[in-house]
Amino acid sequence: MLPPDRITFEPFKIKMVEPILACDPLSPVSIQRRGDVIAAARYNMFKIPAREVTIDLLTDSGTGAMSQDQWSGMMLGDESYAQATSFERFENSIQSVLGGQFLTVPTHQGRAAEHILFHLLNAKADRDAAVNHRPRRRRVLINSFFDTTAANAMLKGALTSEELEAGGGNQGTYDEIQAKDAELRKKLLIVRNQLVVDQKPEQFEHGIFGGNINLDKLEAILSDPLQRAEVLVVMVTATNNTGGGLPVSLANLHAIRQMVDRYSSGDPVWMEGTPPIMFMMDACRFAENAYFIQQHEPGQQNRSVAEIAREMFELVDGCTMSAKKDGMVNIGGFLATRHEAVRTAAWEYMVEIEGFYTYGGLAGRDLEAIAIGMREGVDDRRVAQRVEQVRQLWTWLHEEGVPVKAPCGGHGVFLKGWEFWTENGQLLVEKEDLPGHLLAVELYRRYGIRACEIGTIMFGDVDPITKRVTRTAPDEDYVRLAIPRRVYTESHMRYVAAALVEMYRERSKAAFKGMRFTYRPDALPHFLSHFEPVSK
Ligand code: F0G
Repeated sequence: MLPPDRITFEPFKIKMVEPILACDPLSPVSIQRRGDVIAAARYNMFKIPAREVTIDLLTDSGTGAMSQDQWSGMMLGDESYAQATSFERFENSIQSVLGGQFLTVPTHQGRAAEHILFHLLNAKADRDAAVNHRPRRRRVLINSFFDTTAANAMLKGALTSEELEAGGGNQGTYDEIQAKDAELRKKLLIVRNQLVVDQKPEQFEHGIFGGNINLDKLEAILSDPLQRAEVLVVMVTATNNTGGGLPVSLANLHAIRQMVDRYSSGDPVWMEGTPPIMFMMDACRFAENAYFIQQHEPGQQNRSVAEIAREMFELVDGCTMSAKKDGMVNIGGFLATRHEAVRTAAWEYMVEIEGFYTYGGLAGRDLEAIAIGMREGVDDRRVAQRVEQVRQLWTWLHEEGVPVKAPCGGHGVFLKGWEFWTENGQLLVEKEDLPGHLLAVELYRRYGIRACEIGTIMFGDVDPITKRVTRTAPDEDYVRLAIPRRVYTESHMRYVAAALVEMYRERSKAAFKGMRFTYRPDALPHFLSHFEPVSK
């Protein structure tokens, strides 16, 4: 048995419990039942009824448990339509956690904040293009996009009326118009420069900081006046969800700030009072990021997560935030900015889509929960327990040889689908047959654990007629085990680890040979697609 000083425990007691309905997951009846459930769900993890899931690791977004302070704070929610006291508490809390003079715009979740931000950026770029003949091509310089951020950046880059006049338009058949617009859009499109450092293990020079931006690539763009004029915004996602939840270092954030300022200082300002190019953060998991800095960046060990987080925010002009992650709530988000002109422009747009600017699609009680949750989010013991719980699961799997992405990120463990279904150098499942998804399907069917593929379903291409995969994910078929905050205990995690170890040992006995699409929409296919198993 370990001595007491080697044991860390959850910094909370459980006061209210929610029963797991499917809590006899290993009986043959349960396994049989889940086989029927997942077939009825067309093998889409998002269509499985939650009551049929034993351990739900689909996402860590909005799935956490709130604290007693948050629940009691909700009773103080001021539901006044305008200028509610709850908004004052919300803004004060965000200002104290982010530090400095941030102005806030509440939104119903993170992607609404992204939507507003990219609307403003693109609207201004459209005006500049029309009036000053500035370039219409736009670049978003970012470590990696989350898919909603990319969708919002691109959506708002859709054709404007001048652009339609320039070549798109309403003449011809529907197909001709579509083709013409697509051609034009290619020329005008937001150029998506994803600048994350190389993460291949053999080239991994950055320690844990695999979310860093590659500064050479950034400099190559910023130092060229023509390319720089196309830059809509520089952004970092902290931590970098699509890259395995790996953090960005303080040194990297400082270097980006300096580089942006150095190269753009002589350019015209973006809006009154703003710098020429804004540097923004996608801050969903900022506290986890700050914890990694505390643990791994030289000289940071004696600082609190809260102090480090304030330094991270000191370096940016603002952020988009999904409070459903490190804001510790089930719903809510915000846009924060240092610049009055940006907030005013955001207000003008948000009243159309989110509601009045002091509630932004949320109830007063939700604002209270965020106000308290943001402060709890940066509590050192809270965030340490959270990241270490994820790392514990990763370690158990790694030690038993289950293929996991290394190093381990902050919010989940990323399993490697291709490598998982490999035995003696032979692929048991062809890469075109969605091995990552098969892993998720089998994990659910055999053990009642729900996870989600982040691989070929999300990033691959499919022939529209045959539904066969024509291009697989670029480097692996990841399956993410995302761990909700303050929800599962160590024994739940032990069960997950044991299930995966057993499944890996028995991988040659999988029920199916792979999965294939039977229906796939063009946008966000992982939510809506249908599949069928490929029989042995
Ligand atoms: N940015 C990142 C890095 C995210 O991970 C998410 C959501 C968002 C933005 C959008 O926030 O959901 O509040 O609108 N990620 C969830 C996930 C859905 O499962 O990783 P939202």
